[in-house]
Amino acid sequence: MNKKITVPDIRATKENGNKYTLVTCYDYTSATMVEASDIEMILVGDSLGMTMLGYDGTVGVTVDDIIHHGKAVKKGAPNKFIIGDMPFGAYNVSVEQGITSANKIFIEIGCDAIKLEGGKRSAAVIKGIVEAGIPVCGHIGLTPQTTSMMGGFKVQGKSMDAVELLLEDAKAIEEAGAFLIMIEGVPVSVTQYIRKNIGIPVIGIGAGPDCEVQALILQDMLGMYEWVPKFAKKFADLRPQIIDAFNTYHQEVVEGNFPTPEYSYNSKVEGLDD
Ligand code: KIV
Repeated sequence: MNKKITVPDIRATKENGNKYTLVTCYDYTSATMVEASDIEMILVGDSLGMTMLGYDGTVGVTVDDIIHHGKAVKKGAPNKFIIGDMPFGAYNVSVEQGITSANKIFIEIGCDAIKLEGGKRSAAVIKGIVEAGIPVCGHIGLTPQTTSMMGGFKVQGKSMDAVELLLEDAKAIEEAGAFLIMIEGVPVSVTQYIRKNIGIPVIGIGAGPDCEVQALILQDMLGMYEWVPKFAKKFADLRPQIIDAFNTYHQEVVEGNFPTPEYSYNSKVEGLDD
């Protein structure tokens, strides 16, 4: 079992060149498998709205949803660095509201950091949460909570103006005190440009190889979800295997081949079996 990493370990990657991996995770059984692996970090992401709850997007996920799933993940993976996601509506009213939501997620899950979306627009909330003593990871680029403003799940940073705005956002997040920044869905050169101009490490998801931490959605990388974005390599293709297992189970039951004595309790009951 590898030692659990810390905020200073993650900060140090900017200098020492260490690379870490992160997967999203939302349940106990999956968390026990991540715990048994070399992956260092878990995000209890609001993507659970799509992967666990069947929503079209992440809006609608609540702080209580994140806590409900996060507690199970923490039980299954006590030695991983766990980030709890701040869902839409949990930090867009005021700094106080953001601190209250972050406190709840941080305390009730027992996670190591929280993540929230937005650059300049979220800087005051990030500052408040950091000053309250909670490590914060920012999130810019393709930010799923505001896809309606972006016109869908679209690659960001496609013009120089857009790139400069992303850099301003990244700098605002760093200045607000975040220790880490997630960049999602941007061309490789955009990540390189931002990384060169900020002093905190980057978690990339669909942002190319030049990141201190790489992130993937668990269901995407295991081939369990119906739709997979271009950047999500399937390191396994479990969906067809799982459907095959369901069908084999169904067929064996219908044909009378399951359960056999091997899968039954065969002890004799006096008076019943004589
Ligand atoms: O909620 C989530 O899973 C995310 C991903 C982009 C990693 O934020």
